[in-house]
Amino acid sequence: MQIAATITEIRALVSQARKAGRTVGFVPTMGALHAGHVALIQAAVEQCDFVVVSLFVNPTQFGPGEDFEKYPRPLDQDLALCRAHGADAVFAPGRTEMYPRQNLTWVSVEKVSEPLCGRFRPGHFRGVATVCTKLFSIVGPDLAFFGQKDAQQVAVIQRMVADLNLPLEIVVCPTVREPDGLALSSRNQYLSPQERKEATVIYRALCRAAGLIRAGETDVAKITEQMHEVLRQVPALRIEYASVADAESLAELRQARGRVLVAVAGRLGSTRLIDNVVVDVGAH
Ligand code: PAJ
Repeated sequence: MQIAATITEIRALVSQARKAGRTVGFVPTMGALHAGHVALIQAAVEQCDFVVVSLFVNPTQFGPGEDFEKYPRPLDQDLALCRAHGADAVFAPGRTEMYPRQNLTWVSVEKVSEPLCGRFRPGHFRGVATVCTKLFSIVGPDLAFFGQKDAQQVAVIQRMVADLNLPLEIVVCPTVREPDGLALSSRNQYLSPQERKEATVIYRALCRAAGLIRAGETDVAKITEQMHEVLRQVPALRIEYASVADAESLAELRQARGRVLVAVAGRLGSTRLIDNVVVDVGAH
């Protein structure tokens, strides 16, 4: 596995692979890798000949007062995981390699970035869309792999790729969970043992909603009330949203129909947790 810290190096590695006729898969990450990231790397290894993983804690997607400084950066462990799962190259640039000057050019995906997490993290999806555009332009992959865990991020990136005619395909991989249902996240390590137990309430609320929808309930007010009933079991959880939305446009629904995104975000102590499930209600 080769490690590149500069744009010139990673471009040279990818261009060598391309000359050898290999297809290129790309897994963008912020490091602190866990089994959710590993599943993306495995999918990329299965579907592509040459797999690049990026490790970059992107400052432009963190708001003031968020966890940019304390975000974990276990570089050696991350490199070992990438190597063990068959990545061909890691791109691990420093901050000034990616942002050598004041950044004046931004990619904003309107509407899709606005609801849900967008309301609580202003500027977050602009930072994500901008860094992904830069990374796609640097790496030039055929396929890029993203996790369903970050459903709004997927919707934003897919819309950006479509609107800007970017020459790659986005592959979405299922959310990897702990045995008790908690979605894996690099931020779970911030949780105290008590909070770690309480955090499972989010997935329980999502399952309650998904069960109701699968049983034929379409009234979103009833579905969200049921989610809140479950979430109230943990008074320490400060709920940001419990939402039922269209999975593609992310528009709030009053009646559940089509591909429905059921999503919850909240804070336990200082840790922000998000999770979602998608339910296909089918055509009516
Ligand atoms: P990060 O949070 O490191 O996540 C990298 C990728 O791993 C994302 O596509 C995310 O959805 C996926 N992922 C995280 N937890 C997962 C889980 N439990 N199951 C499946 N996939 C999971 O998302 C980012 O980084 C950044 O915003 C990035 C796209 C790299 C841009 O900076």
